[in-house]
Amino acid sequence: MNQRFKIQLFTLLIIFLVACNPSKEQHSTSSPLTSSAVEAKIDSILDILTLEEKVGLVHAQSKFSTKGVERLGIPELWMADGPHGVRAEINWDNWGYAGWTNDSITAFPALTCLAATFNPKLAGEYGFSLGEEARYRKKDVLLGPGVNIYRTPLNGRNFEYMGEDPFLASQLVVPYVQGVQKNGVAACVKHYALNNQELNRDKVSVEVSDRALHEIYLPAFKASVLKGNTWAIMGAYNKFRGEYTTHHELLMNDILKGEWNFDGVVVSDWSSAHDTKKAALYGLDIEMGTGTDGLGTTTLNHYDNYYLAKPFLKALKHGEIPETVLNDKVRRVLRLRYRTNMDNNRPLGSANTIEHQNVARNIATDGIVLLKNEDNFFPIQDKVGLTIAVIGENATRSMTKGGGSSELKPKFEISPLQGLKERYKNATILHALSYHTGPSVYDKITPSPYNADSLKVEALAIAKKADVVLFVGGLNKSHLQDCEGDDRRQYELPFDQNTIIEDLLKVNSNLGFISLTGNAFEIPWKSKVKGILQSWYLGSMAGHAIADIISGDVNPSGKLPFTFPKKLEDNGAHSFGAESYPGVNLTTEYKEDILVGYRWHDTKNIEPEYAFGFGLSYSTFEMSNITVNKTELAKDDAFTISCDLKNTGDYDGAEVVQVYVGKPESKVKRALKELKGFQKVEVKKGETANASITIPIEELAFYDETLADWNIEKGIYTIHVGNSSDNIIKTLEITVQ
Ligand code: BGC
Repeated sequence: MNQRFKIQLFTLLIIFLVACNPSKEQHSTSSPLTSSAVEAKIDSILDILTLEEKVGLVHAQSKFSTKGVERLGIPELWMADGPHGVRAEINWDNWGYAGWTNDSITAFPALTCLAATFNPKLAGEYGFSLGEEARYRKKDVLLGPGVNIYRTPLNGRNFEYMGEDPFLASQLVVPYVQGVQKNGVAACVKHYALNNQELNRDKVSVEVSDRALHEIYLPAFKASVLKGNTWAIMGAYNKFRGEYTTHHELLMNDILKGEWNFDGVVVSDWSSAHDTKKAALYGLDIEMGTGTDGLGTTTLNHYDNYYLAKPFLKALKHGEIPETVLNDKVRRVLRLRYRTNMDNNRPLGSANTIEHQNVARNIATDGIVLLKNEDNFFPIQDKVGLTIAVIGENATRSMTKGGGSSELKPKFEISPLQGLKERYKNATILHALSYHTGPSVYDKITPSPYNADSLKVEALAIAKKADVVLFVGGLNKSHLQDCEGDDRRQYELPFDQNTIIEDLLKVNSNLGFISLTGNAFEIPWKSKVKGILQSWYLGSMAGHAIADIISGDVNPSGKLPFTFPKKLEDNGAHSFGAESYPGVNLTTEYKEDILVGYRWHDTKNIEPEYAFGFGLSYSTFEMSNITVNKTELAKDDAFTISCDLKNTGDYDGAEVVQVYVGKPESKVKRALKELKGFQKVEVKKGETANASITIPIEELAFYDETLADWNIEKGIYTIHVGNSSDNIIKTLEITVQ
């Protein structure tokens, strides 16, 4: 090519790219590019980028953005937390909030609540609405969802994840990711992988078998890549077998980018990269958050000193790392641009709409789990003369504040007390705190500045006067509770809530407990209270959703996405002492192996307080005619479980038909049963609906360590159909030939 021709071509390319640049803020449409056209464009851009420009694309330029290439019209890339809503704007160089006045959003329910819906359709609506808000806020990458498996009830971050079962999490992450990405905003599925505790999260090394890795800890990530086509994945803080997961040859190169053929970008967690050569060679594409802030302590522009900045450039220039390694990262980063901010067809987004509020409310009501309902304590009818005492700090506390990076700045947040007051127009609602944990959400568990006795006396006084007591308690988003960066230190509820509840019960036994947590907890007073509602952290519409359920406007249909053990030692991870949790010498060995959550309780015959998949309704359902269409299966077959579901109660409602599979005789260790299919079915009172759940034979495979591959054993499998892991209505058998 002669020089003049090259220059002309170059100029044309620039004009084209600038024309494509959506940072011009107009919304134009053109026909979408085919992927081969995109790859061809990327080839031509790669040809003209300088080494410095390329390196500039693979590390941060601020706390939440990376550079573009201005001369070519390649825009910057903007990211934002997080899984439950779009986080408020953060300062350029540090974690402080920028104090904007136009960054309030809709807070959606925490992902534990989404998991409890057992409702993939709602997961799609969640992702789509959240993606619209991210797009409206001009974000290109949404840092969520989180799909780390719930291994111990102490993990401070469980509320951000989708429970203890890999199949459930996989079914929900796919529509969530697809929903977000319909807006031209990338989902960034996190934290890959094995980030199952917050205590020592940036140092701890996980030892786990290949089998548990593949069967328990990776499936939701795999589904997000293979079925959800996620455009980004975030590395985790922790190590796996001694190496940091963010640049891990096996996890990133062999599994994610090799076996799963992931064509998106791997983003580091904020400060999870630790080495230039490893980051370069073992899969990291964009380095974010390294160091305490953007200015560093000794350098002017700390970002230049990131592992994938100047040190990377130097290694490239000295030939220590081949340029092809950088080109692969840049290709991925540019592909991400074409999928997001260089896609002229992406919609414009919206925030704080009534639609989003409705989606948040529907997910919240669909996910609230009714755990106990003695004497039909719930629903509570609104009537003149009825006095309801709403007691507990969580009745008024903001639960979108705190918790770490998932903290939100919602336009509004309806507290449980407000929601109840707005719904109950005839009854008298009284309120008392009963305990107070201090005004700051960042408080440690320290003595309260308030007089604890007087708060309790006040609570007892209103409880005595009331017909009904609703204790709104649980955890909150402060350090050492449901909060990033550390784990809970105790399984029991904090702030002496157990004593307060026992004391309240002495003056009024007509008491229901409304639990706001993202984790299981010890329930010593379970037999004494009339009702228990597991209400999660529900976001903007929390109070309305809680009132919807308590009043009976919505019939509860949520199911627990994790087990409530009676005591901590009953949980698999806690059955082996410190080596298994929280680790010894910064190594945590997952000794329970594949038997996580209900798999442990079932197989070891340890009765839980509340089982995985459990949740009551105001109605009753009867399952009958449970059949399987095929009992002999060969390669590539699938089988379908059908059942009739009759609503035999007085309320329209929904029930989740759950199908678990077991393999009683096997050459390898097996859980008694594992969830392999489910369907949430709405049925009007008195009517019967049909559930039909198809399970492909591949779902029966186990990860065979001797083959380093999935393997389907021949022989008899048991199919357990029920409405919770501990309530199986019928067991069938199928045979794999
Ligand atoms: C968290 C990530 C989050 C990132 C950015 C990290 O501390 O682990 O989940 O996306 O910060 O806020």
